[in-house]
Amino acid sequence: MGLRILGTGSALPARRVTNEELSGFLDTSDEWISQRTGIRARRVCTTETLDDLATQASRRALESAGVDASELGAVICTTTSPDHVMPAEASVVQGSIGASCPSFDLAAACAGFVFALDVADGIFARGRARRVLVVSAERCTRYLDWTDRATCVLFGDGAAAAVLGAEGEGLLSLRLSTQPDTGALDLPGIPGSSPFDKTVRGPQLFSMRGREIFKFGVTSIEREVRALAADAGMEVADIDHFVFHQANGRILDSAATRLGIDASRVVRTLAETGNLSSACIPHALDHLVRSGGLTAGQTVAIVGFGAGLSVGSCLIRWEEGAAGTGPALPHAAAKAPLT
Ligand code: UT7
Repeated sequence: MGLRILGTGSALPARRVTNEELSGFLDTSDEWISQRTGIRARRVCTTETLDDLATQASRRALESAGVDASELGAVICTTTSPDHVMPAEASVVQGSIGASCPSFDLAAACAGFVFALDVADGIFARGRARRVLVVSAERCTRYLDWTDRATCVLFGDGAAAAVLGAEGEGLLSLRLSTQPDTGALDLPGIPGSSPFDKTVRGPQLFSMRGREIFKFGVTSIEREVRALAADAGMEVADIDHFVFHQANGRILDSAATRLGIDASRVVRTLAETGNLSSACIPHALDHLVRSGGLTAGQTVAIVGFGAGLSVGSCLIRWEEGAAGTGPALPHAAAKAPLT
């Protein structure tokens, strides 16, 4: 499959909220959250908009790719928490970065980034563009129930982007699936004010069946990594890096144990961000790139899972000339607050 990641970038809001701070207004503790999830703190939007974060992450990805916004043939934003339902979040980003190309949003919850890679691959295959920007931007804290300790402690806000190029053979395998279950993770849409609406609706807040999603995450990661390796004619042990959805550190540990790989090979960014929904994977990938952890020729197995229940996974070979194989931007710059 002809696709290469040319550059990555991310942006987090300035405000850091610790577990201790949450325990000031919730019946929870740093000990519970740290031990059960691996999360110590998360970044929360206060004065920043999601438009700001998505634009900043996109600019950083373009800069690291050495690509001008005018070269983009499409902008795809994955989000379930946009600032606007209309226009698309991608259209706002497109305007802010100065691109003039089709732009649209894609909603596949936490698996959104991999779904967008598949769409970009199709755009490249049809010769419609040679450069595509995928930006995953989530303001999860806007839809959380801040009285529900079982969910609100898990999420944060942030955006991360990747500039994709049509040349190369960097995508070794990609798999998408959706197993219908609308109640496991649920966020109702805008209630509206139609005088004809007789449906009964609950509050417009996020809810989930946590234990079930935990098991779904672990089994999905194991199944997908084994399938990706088989597709590429490789052994799991031969894959260099593992970038999984950052929902819970114990999910990452269990998946590593089942796969028989050392947990240190699984990229882990959730301690300081919490769950960023679809932005988790590109953010973790950006972290890996900017920390100098990726070299040309290495392989990365990626698995995202979440509401749907959807799973997107892919195996990437990092190619010469992709971001991170040239001079790296300072890691601190990528994580600098927006203010
Ligand atoms: O992007 C995908 C979205 N979500 C996920 O992937 C989440 C996957 N699931 C998880 O990460 C875990 O299931 C949770 C972190 C949500 C929960 O951890 P758990 O180990 O499965 O705990 P539990 O739900 O079995 O609850 C154990 C206890 C309960 O108390 P009781 O009934 O034993 O007295 C909960 O009420 O922990 C309690 N609890 C808390 N206690 C302190 C739940 N949340 C908290 C909290 N602080 N924040």
